Amino acid sequence: MAEPDGSGAARRPRLGVNIDHVATVRNARGGATPDPVRAAHLAVQGGADGVTAHLREDRRHIRDDDMRRLKQELAVPLNFEAGATAEMVAIALEILPHAVCLVPERREERTTEGGLDVIGLRRELKPMIADLSAAGVRVSLFVEPEPAVLEAAAELGAPVVELHTGAFCLRHDAGDHAGAARELERIRAAAAAGDRLGLEIHAGHGLSFDTVRPVARIPQIAEFNIGHFLIGEAIFTGLAAAVATMRRLILEAREARDVP
Ligand code: PXP
Repeated sequence: MAEPDGSGAARRPRLGVNIDHVATVRNARGGATPDPVRAAHLAVQGGADGVTAHLREDRRHIRDDDMRRLKQELAVPLNFEAGATAEMVAIALEILPHAVCLVPERREERTTEGGLDVIGLRRELKPMIADLSAAGVRVSLFVEPEPAVLEAAAELGAPVVELHTGAFCLRHDAGDHAGAARELERIRAAAAAGDRLGLEIHAGHGLSFDTVRPVARIPQIAEFNIGHFLIGEAIFTGLAAAVATMRRLILEAREARDVP
C-alpha cells in the first residue's frame, strides 16, 4: 500500500521475532525444554507481529515438528525461513506458513552469512517462487542491499526482499563509525530502490536495541526480523519485556521521537 509520501512503507513497521535460539538451548540438552513454541507465544504477548523460525538442513535448532506446531498454534503470521532447496520448498508447501524467506545456507556457517545469490540462482529460484506464490505463500528473498540483486528479485516475481543488516551491525558493534555509516547508506539506498521496483522491504540480521534505531528510521522498511539479540536479552529481562522494548524503539525511531 502506498503512503502519502509515495513510499510503499507500512505505516506501522512490523516486528517478527525469530525464536530459533530457544531451540538451540533446548537441543543442547536433548530434551523438550525450553520450548520454542512457548517462546513464540511470549513474543506475541510482548508485541511481536509475527514469528520467524529457520528450519536448517541440519536441524540444528528448529525441527520439522516445531514448525508444524508454530503453524497450528499461532494466531500471528509465521515466517518460515529456509534454504532455497527442493526439500525445504516441499515442507513449506505442506505446512503453508504465511511467508517463506529464502536464504543462502551453508552447513559450516554459524548463522546466515551474506545474502542469497539471486542473480546466479535465477533458474532455480523462479519455480520455487512461482510454486510458493501459487500456494498463497508470500515469498521473501534475503538479499544484500545491492540494486542489481533487487532488480533480479523483482524480475523473478518475488513480492518481498529482506535486506541483510549484518554488515552494518558488525561495523557498528566494532566501533567502526565510518564503516557503519557506509553500510547504513547502502541499506537506505537499497530500501528506496526496492520500493521503487514495487518490492515490500524487510530488514534483519544482527539487530539490537542500538542498531535497530537508525535502520528503523528508513521509511520504506515494513518489517524487521530479529532473533539472537532478543533471545539473549530475554535471559536478563524475560522475552515479552525484551520484545516490548524492541517494538517501542522501532516505533519511536520511525516517528523520529527518539531524536533529541
Ligand atoms: N533474517 C534472516 C533472513 C535471518 O537468516 C536471520 C538469522 O536467522 C535473522 C533475520 C535474524 O537475525 P538475528 O538472529 O541476528 O537477529
